Amino acid sequence: MDKLLITGGARLAGEVRASGAKNAALPILCAAILCPETLALSNVPALQDVRTTLRLLEQMGVQVTRNGDQVEACAANLNTHIAPYELVKTMRASILVLGPLLARYGEAQVSLPGGCAIGARPVNLHLMGLEAMGAEIKVESGFIHAKASRLRGAHIMFDTVTVTGTENLMMAAALADGQTVLENAAREPEVVDLARCLMAMGARIRGAGTTTIVIDGVERLHAAQHTVLPDRIETGTFLVAAAMTRGQVRVTHTDPNLLDAVLVKLQQAGAQIRTGEDFIELDMLGQRAKSVNVHTMPHPGFPTDMQAQLMALDCVAEGTGVVTETIFENRFQHALELQRMGAQIKLEGHTAIVTGCECLTGAPVMATDLRASAALVAAGLAAEGQTTVERIYHLDRGYERIEAKFAQLGARIERVAG
Ligand code: EPZ
Repeated sequence: MDKLLITGGARLAGEVRASGAKNAALPILCAAILCPETLALSNVPALQDVRTTLRLLEQMGVQVTRNGDQVEACAANLNTHIAPYELVKTMRASILVLGPLLARYGEAQVSLPGGCAIGARPVNLHLMGLEAMGAEIKVESGFIHAKASRLRGAHIMFDTVTVTGTENLMMAAALADGQTVLENAAREPEVVDLARCLMAMGARIRGAGTTTIVIDGVERLHAAQHTVLPDRIETGTFLVAAAMTRGQVRVTHTDPNLLDAVLVKLQQAGAQIRTGEDFIELDMLGQRAKSVNVHTMPHPGFPTDMQAQLMALDCVAEGTGVVTETIFENRFQHALELQRMGAQIKLEGHTAIVTGCECLTGAPVMATDLRASAALVAAGLAAEGQTTVERIYHLDRGYERIEAKFAQLGARIERVAG
């Protein structure tokens, strides 16, 4: 298995380009199933999870062509409505084919996505919503078997805010008979981007980005073009790494409006932030960051996908920061690895109390999940000495050429085949 070798101490400086958002590209690719014509996408990131999704669609009979960041997907004739275990087990987001398959074909067999390092990751709210829309659902032998002659509009209240739950049901409702109302819906920018793509395909959606989304089902969707929005988590990851190394970095092809809560935290940490329509510039003026408190919440609150990175920042900041994770039950595994680098972290349930050190020391560490891996890379860049990050297949799921992008900013980092 590949690993990353990092020699810390370089201040990150320069310019780096953000890729398209993984968590928008995945549902949008699945939306192609809803339509018998071609969905033409641009700014699709070159990630393992995108390659897995394209493989899943192709094995169902979707014609897929890819040219750089352009992807065309045409689901004129599907030959199966099954999402097999061997693909779903590598990527939980495969659950996003369930709603589209049911809406278009009235049937779906999707392997039940297991949990992952950060939590049990149940999909009960996805199934509850589809049943409310008239689907018959059985879960047996590790598979979700779903059937519906035609889904009908329903009024659905989510007990918990769920991003992919909102996305699955929004896609299902696009072709349902009648009106669907999603209450307590997720407000993430990736949900809004999916809604924009569906509307370009002819769906009738109001309220995306608010807690109540109204979808009036239509008979059929049509060909469309869509540009995937920038990845706010990748953007935030580069900004935090720059802050940890007391550097100055400009992230381009991004959108500052997507990560307000993160920018506020970085300013509290002492960063000078300048923004334009499609760029964000962070400058630490050579100063050490100040500790910040973080409390993860559904959007527009502080994103759970940036929690590990901000914990890493607190590890080298001046003072003590309190990090509280409210979304997932087991999203502190990076703390154990950061402690191997000398970090002073006290875990108390869903709260981590982080006392900043002047400097971490490089060490061999192990990636456990996607965003934890990014936090370990950032810590290695800021540490003294060499850090080896193992199991970086986690990283490749969600970051496009991360070592090349960091190297572009002056980092001493290389990938070695393990
Ligand atoms: C999406 O996961 C993202 N993945 C995650 O990003 C992100 O961390 C998460 O939203 C929260 O923002 C994609 O978009 C592909 P949830 P999702 O359903 O939709 C509970 C990354 O690093 N819940 O919003 O799976 C659940 O247990 C990944 O890019 C239920 O109880 O997350 C959790 O506590 C990691 N029942 C909470 O809701 C359900 O049916 C939020 O989960 C669904 C969710």
